[in-house]
Amino acid sequence: MLAVHLISFFFSKLKEDPTKKVDRFLHAMRLQDEQLVDISNRFLAEMKKGLSAESLAAAAVKMLPTHVRSTPDGSEKGQFVALDLGGSKFKVLRVKVREDEGINKGGVEMEEKTYPIPKELHEGRAVELFDHVSESLKDFLLEKNMSPEKKHPLAFTFSFPCDMFIALVYRFCSAGIVGKDVVQFLRQAIDRTGDMDVDVLAVVNDTVATMMTCGFDDQCCEVGLIIGTGTNACYMEELRHIDMVQGDEGRMCVNTEWGAFGDDGALHDFITDFDRDVDAASLNPGKQTFEKMVSGMYLGELVRLVVLKMAKLGLLFDGHVSDALRTKGKITTADVAAMEENGLKNTKEILTHLHLTPSPDDCVAVQHVSTIVSFRSSNLVAAGLVAILTRIRQNRNLRGLRITVGVDGTVYKTHPQYPKRLHKVVRRLLPDCHVRFVLSECGSSKGAALVAAVAQRLTSQRRKVDEALSLFTLNEEKLQLVKSRMREGLEAGLKSKGCTIKMLPSFVYHTPDGTERGKYLALDLGGTNFRAMLVRFKRQKTRLYHKIYTIPLEIMQGTGEELFDHLAQCVCDFLDYMGLKNVRLPAGFTFSFPCQQSDIDTGTLVSWTKGFKATDCEGEDVVSMLREAIKRRNEFDLDIVALVNDTVGTMMSCAYEDPKCEVGMIAGTGSNLCYMEELRNIEKLEQSNKWGGLGNDRCLEDIITLYDVEVDIHSVNPGKQRFEKLTSGMYLGEIVRQVLLDLTRRGLLFKGHVTETLKTPGIFETKYLSQIESDHLALLQVRSILQQLGLHGTCDDSIIVKEVCGAVSRRAAQMCGAGMAAVVDKIREDRGLERLSITVGVDGALYKLHPHFSQVLKETVGVMAPQCDVTFMPSEEGSGKGAALIAAVVRQKHQM
Ligand code: BG6
Ligand code: BG6
Ligand code: GLC
Ligand code: GLC
Repeated sequence: MLAVHLISFFFSKLKEDPTKKVDRFLHAMRLQDEQLVDISNRFLAEMKKGLSAESLAAAAVKMLPTHVRSTPDGSEKGQFVALDLGGSKFKVLRVKVREDEGINKGGVEMEEKTYPIPKELHEGRAVELFDHVSESLKDFLLEKNMSPEKKHPLAFTFSFPCDMFIALVYRFCSAGIVGKDVVQFLRQAIDRTGDMDVDVLAVVNDTVATMMTCGFDDQCCEVGLIIGTGTNACYMEELRHIDMVQGDEGRMCVNTEWGAFGDDGALHDFITDFDRDVDAASLNPGKQTFEKMVSGMYLGELVRLVVLKMAKLGLLFDGHVSDALRTKGKITTADVAAMEENGLKNTKEILTHLHLTPSPDDCVAVQHVSTIVSFRSSNLVAAGLVAILTRIRQNRNLRGLRITVGVDGTVYKTHPQYPKRLHKVVRRLLPDCHVRFVLSECGSSKGAALVAAVAQRLTSQRRKVDEALSLFTLNEEKLQLVKSRMREGLEAGLKSKGCTIKMLPSFVYHTPDGTERGKYLALDLGGTNFRAMLVRFKRQKTRLYHKIYTIPLEIMQGTGEELFDHLAQCVCDFLDYMGLKNVRLPAGFTFSFPCQQSDIDTGTLVSWTKGFKATDCEGEDVVSMLREAIKRRNEFDLDIVALVNDTVGTMMSCAYEDPKCEVGMIAGTGSNLCYMEELRNIEKLEQSNKWGGLGNDRCLEDIITLYDVEVDIHSVNPGKQRFEKLTSGMYLGEIVRQVLLDLTRRGLLFKGHVTETLKTPGIFETKYLSQIESDHLALLQVRSILQQLGLHGTCDDSIIVKEVCGAVSRRAAQMCGAGMAAVVDKIREDRGLERLSITVGVDGALYKLHPHFSQVLKETVGVMAPQCDVTFMPSEEGSGKGAALIAAVVRQKHQM
């Protein structure tokens, strides 16, 4: 007897741990990290497929754009009605969103009522279901005394994880028109019900609503995750990657509908026989492959099928199988969660309830089945989430990432181990990312109301920004006005001296004819640098040698003597370098500041511009100042034969290449133009125009905005150079800054924070405008340029800043185009021509470096001067070569 006991004890010790046989049996469901990485990579590929227009049709994962572009910023407010349809309950809610006040964050108050959905509607027609929804809404409004006359903004959470709606889900989702059709359905139902004034502002998926709910408290929340009856995730994608939506600025939330991952066979090697059985018995075979491996609706079924199969094989209950165990739906997801709690007690109760007689080992084994099935679920969700986070990290070019994931759903909320397992795997697979998981406390209705609130806030902000920018819009009528005012200004300027357009004499009577010969020196002051250049003209061949010298700020703003001594020193260095110190070369001096010339080689500086402030120069002849400095140096001598404005230098330099070049234009720090006028029209021997002065007599009042007025008032020369102040690089940045300041003060930008940086004049140089407006620049780069400037804002702020820059520079280009049209039309009419073909030599940073200025300028001239064919010729060597040519022309004339 003792021997028998000993032998049975020995065998019981030898008997296998029941979890081991389950492990073996469910080997295919136990996923290792490498497999999870593999799945994650496959999902990453699926996401790309779903975003691209070429592969979208064949993609299993639909990546639906949601048109939700901003997460809440705390400034939302208002009262909303919300409908929440698709979870286990249908609810109608009133949501009050209070505005952020000081440091106290705005709060959200909610009142809700659950309305049961009658059984017959579960499988009925969509129309009847929506009628029920809208009647419940009406009942709720009445009960809460919400006036039927007042328009109530409404948000609708629409998510269909349940069987009863699956047919509907497919009708809406597969067409990629979630939103539009649902809104129509709802509106029609509301009309049928009658006596309600409701404005359906937003339809959102539960994932999106969850992200928004959590995003209200945590701005880093850019992913929404549901692990409930169904499963799904959404995240903020870069708009430029979403082919189905136009525009490439900023981000938009994409509803991945990841439940369908694997529908095209992408997960074939991970699918078990049990998954195939669950799928075959479902209402939508072949669809929602991933969801069927993961979500609450199917976990219980998976466990039941595994247990049934094991029992049939004699691995459980001594091979006994009950009818209940054979019945679909008899083990629920709640059972799966319960089995992992409370030791083995719950498992035993659940199995007994199924008319089974489990042994302790059976209970251990079945509990282990539950663990493996729910563990696989959390592992698969982790793999999907890792793919999404990896994509966000790649999009933003970051090594690490700090991000929050908002989560909801019964599986996540009620399964005791689920969250911990999920978090651990995600963090293990993405060690560089700091991922925070936040449980959405009050369902997705709050989020839906927030979507509506954000939509309402953005619509009103957008309207105000558009109104501000519309001030810069010039229609054809306004451009015509600019053209005719410019024409009047030109005519008046030719007749008398006291006019706004100065029409200063350049004393240049001829453009070059190609016979110019010899060596000339050109000096060029007016841009950022001083340039010295040797130009050798030899039978149409020109050779150029030049050197660039910076002008230190202390010299620019020191005394006049210091400035001109510095120029003489640079020239001396250049002549040394060229070995020409002992030759008295004829020289042309490009001096791009307003000068009153009385002859070709004399000119009095009217006033400094462009950052120069050297004392004792204004009112003086700059040529004499240079000659005196050369004399003081006493090392070399120069024959300064011509003083030239940069417009004239540019025209001459281009005319040497193209004899049709009779106009010179500078669109740079300053804005100016010159052209060859008929001598018979000039009553006061003047010819180079100073178009920057147009508008000094207030003739541009209907174009000048309040922002331009601010720029003018704070300039060194208020009331002067009004046209230049609308068109040149030196002022465009200031106009932009004034607009940004105003929008910020009105709370439409930078969250209403007016910083010291924004109050600093001159922060926006032309080069920044050019960079910000570049088409090739991603919004993040715009944001980083703004950060360099000390302006810290969101991506949405960057979009507005870019739009402001665009509006201001476009207007500048259009104004120059209309002005140019006046000039070329005048030349055409003066010559009595039906058509004029003419070339304009151009220079300046705005023309050469700004991404759109030159194009808009050309287009405008085309429209405003249709009888002129205007060719723009960018000057290659600046205006220095032109100055040398003028020197040559003058020299040859003297020698004749
Ligand atoms: C709720 C949301 O909180 O979560 C529903 O309000 C959503 O819209 C649901 O569908 C998901 O959870 P479950 O487990 O009910 O499907
Ligand atoms: C240069 C000319 O190329 O362009 C200068 O040589 C001129 O004389 C300048 O002033 C204008 O450009 P910006 O953009 O520097 O004002
Ligand atoms: C289903 C729905 C999806 C929803 C998810 C979670 O997968 O198709 O839209 O987000 O369930 O409720
Ligand atoms: C300023 C100067 C003008 C020059 C222009 C372009 O407007 O006054 O002389 O041509 O800038 O540089």
